[in-house]
Amino acid sequence: MVDHAFSDERLAQLYDVLNPWGGSGDDAFYLDLVMSARSVLDVGCGTGALLRRAREAGHAGLLCGLDPAEAMLDQARVRPDIEWISGDLASAGGSDGASSVGRDRRFDLVVMTGHAFQVLVEDDELRASLAAVRSVLSDDGRFVFETRNPSARAWESWTPDHAVEVTAADGAVVRVAHQVETPVDGDVVSFSTTFTSPDWERAEVSRSTLRFLDRDALSSFLAGAGLVAEWQYGDWARGPLTGTSPEIITVAAPAR
Ligand SMILES: C[S@@+](CC[C@H](N)C(=O)[O-])C[C@H]1O[C@@H](n2cnc3c(N)ncnc32)[C@H](O)[C@@H]1O
Repeated sequence: MVDHAFSDERLAQLYDVLNPWGGSGDDAFYLDLVMSARSVLDVGCGTGALLRRAREAGHAGLLCGLDPAEAMLDQARVRPDIEWISGDLASAGGSDGASSVGRDRRFDLVVMTGHAFQVLVEDDELRASLAAVRSVLSDDGRFVFETRNPSARAWESWTPDHAVEVTAADGAVVRVAHQVETPVDGDVVSFSTTFTSPDWERAEVSRSTLRFLDRDALSSFLAGAGLVAEWQYGDWARGPLTGTSPEIITVAAPAR
């Protein structure tokens, strides 16, 4: 089930305010890749900021965004010259022709940005999703995504004292605070995000669960889908992956 933060119209409208373009190095990293690929599938595209930027920057090829959250896609659809598909990743592939993503076409680049990969929590969901990626990827294509490095323990700072305030498009000042459910169980972290505003009748609470795979577990899931990590970086400046790197940024290719 999609998090309330993505399925609720008012919260989906807040997403780009909370995550402005260029806020960290990931946007430039992915935009470069998208601009040099002929056909791109953005899985968990959310509000579609990456593909919208690519089209604005002159990308003339196939740009396709996939997301199960209609409220997020509603933000993306301001740009009708991009194909926006409502659905989840596990149903994107398949050889039965039922998929509206993979029908008669393969992508040079598949990306999952904004830590969207971490919403894949269960082993079966990860396997089905990675198999779907492989099935829509061309034989010389690349699957590029990032997951937070578990050894950097990012969730330890997801506390109410790190709350942020933003101003929504309608002028409402909204406070956004996280609270992690403890104890953290292995590589799975569940937390709530509470949105409050003096202009709203009541608070909105979204519960999320994310998986923090380490490098070895990630390699094993990729191998199971016929994919292999070609490059891995620990940060958006393409620094090496170390024990303290914030990210595991992976460029995966079909196994030969
Ligand atoms: C944190 S947002 C990232 C959005 C965007 N990629 C970005 O970089 O800002 C995660 C997105 O993944 C989507 N999502 C959740 N489950 C999914 C699934 N099984 N397959 C594809 N996308 C999914 C959510 O609806 C949400 O829009």
